[in-house]
Amino acid sequence: MATILHVNASPRGSRSDSLRLAHHFIAAVQDSAGDGFDIETLNLFDPGALPAFGQAAAAAKMAVFSGLDQTPDQIQAWEDARAVFDQFAAADAYVFNIPMWNAGVPYALKQWVDIVTQPGWSFGFDPGAGYFGLLKEKRAVAIHTSGVYAPGLPPAFGSDFSSPFFTDWLNFVGITDTTHVRMAPSATNTDLDGARHAAEVELKELAGTFAVHLRAGEARAGDLQLAGDRAG
Ligand SMILES: Cc1cc2nc3c(=O)[nH]c(=O)nc-3n(C[C@H](O)[C@H](O)[C@H](O)COP(=O)(O)O)c2cc1C
Repeated sequence: MATILHVNASPRGSRSDSLRLAHHFIAAVQDSAGDGFDIETLNLFDPGALPAFGQAAAAAKMAVFSGLDQTPDQIQAWEDARAVFDQFAAADAYVFNIPMWNAGVPYALKQWVDIVTQPGWSFGFDPGAGYFGLLKEKRAVAIHTSGVYAPGLPPAFGSDFSSPFFTDWLNFVGITDTTHVRMAPSATNTDLDGARHAAEVELKELAGTFAVHLRAGEARAGDLQLAGDRAG
């Protein structure tokens, strides 16, 4: 059974707009697939949800780059990071809900990105061709919300470094089948319910295709397994 990893980057629980939209999307996906997918949730702001990625982890990463041995501290930090990566890599598809924070992504999401984005795990590097992503056959939906910023508003209403960063990162690790849905902000839009409804409609339309693609992926994986069993 395919697994969807839901990465919640808002700490606002039941008051979160982006989380509500993510739940709406996941429910619609399950509806169109007869509750056929496993859903795993990672609440990035839960205490202890993520290991630190500081001195030991950064040194561990540089040791990998330079082919040096890792110290015991670095080995521990690397293993902690690996556990977070393993959860990420094991999923077949992703739902991210991402509130804009100071024109970027919330720091807990950047921390998660810094943990899972490691050489040989999620990306490789070729001196001639550059970086290449190592995650294959995954798809993602990212739901973006902001309180003031909206595309098309004058610069005084803020900039968006959040969705370009996240789009680029998904591509960097090899997740190229992606859809981004944005909910229009409240400060410049008095029709909050209308904005929410529009995002819900967009997500519901998306849910059917998302489920079909996941089902097709399950079938492909089943065929490969069968072929492997026969060959073995
Ligand atoms: C720490 C913080 C920083 C924020 N920075 C911005 C910002 O730069 N631009 C913006 O339009 N909204 C900003 N907002 C508003 C949120 O993006 C907006 O309320 C969003 O819908 C929250 O999503 P959520 O309800 O899922 O947490 C900020 C909110 C917080 C808490």
